[in-house]
Amino acid sequence: MNMHISSTLPFYEPAGRECELFEMAFENGLPLLLKGPTGCGKTRFVEHMAAKLGKQLYTVACHDDLSAADLIGRYLLKGGETEWVDGPLTRAVREGAICYLDEVVEARKDVTVVLHPLTDDRRTLMIDRTGEELQAPPGFMLVASYNPGYQNVLKRLKPSTRQRFLSMTFGFPEAEAEIAVVARESGLEKGRVAPLVRLAGHIRALSGMDLEEGVSTRLLVYTAKLMARGMNVDQAIQVAIIEPLTDEPDVKQSLRDLISTIYG
Ligand SMILES: Nc1ncnc2c1ncn2[C@@H]1O[C@H](COP(=O)(O)OP(=O)(O)OP(=O)(O)O)[C@@H](O)[C@H]1O
Ligand SMILES: [Mg+2]
Repeated sequence: MNMHISSTLPFYEPAGRECELFEMAFENGLPLLLKGPTGCGKTRFVEHMAAKLGKQLYTVACHDDLSAADLIGRYLLKGGETEWVDGPLTRAVREGAICYLDEVVEARKDVTVVLHPLTDDRRTLMIDRTGEELQAPPGFMLVASYNPGYQNVLKRLKPSTRQRFLSMTFGFPEAEAEIAVVARESGLEKGRVAPLVRLAGHIRALSGMDLEEGVSTRLLVYTAKLMARGMNVDQAIQVAIIEPLTDEPDVKQSLRDLISTIYG
């Protein structure tokens, strides 16, 4: 778990009206689900909005072993005594903070039982172990994210869970916006970022065929950071785009072919 309140506003370049939608969800006490591929700005968006609203943010990276107790809390032994320790979700509810469940589909099924009363009009967190029933204050907000690309039949949100959230799909930014994001994040001049973004457009067109997922904005930022610090473009693309995307020699070769059409 990662707890965080930011004094400076993390940079976020909006793609549309997502900031207004987030504020409206917050003001109305409605949970929000963000869908989108890896590295497209979901986490950055939540960090930005939490800071903008002056809210504490509790981020939980969900994994297949994450249980309800990990979110809610548990009794721990301290010097021979058992003591109740709140989990991140309980803390967020008590404090009226924002709780962000990253890759929520990964979590164990018992998590759903906890989320349902919290994400409908009851807005309550049931703590079975202590018998407590917490009413979420107006400042509490639950945000969740998942990547539909990795979805398999076993790991899907049930309709009864999905239909408790407002939802938004995130994609990679438009070319102009992505150039601005990558230049700002890396310090590389826009003129040198533009061909990377063009390359990303071509690679994303391949995804689904040879690649599980297109190149992320995150990887473009990595590439540009290496270039800004003096690495030559071929090497930067090799370690920050080609190798992270694939293990297949023939796919690597087709990526190199694409690159040579852009860099000549
Ligand atoms: N719209 C944006 N504004 C500012 N930075 C962005 C934006 N989109 C992407 N980025 C950059 O891309 C990086 C990756 O974004 P982020 O970590 O938010 O992705 P994510 O969607 O949460 O991915 P994952 O699903 O893998 O967690 C950020 O650290 C930031 O540098
Ligand atoms: Mg993320």
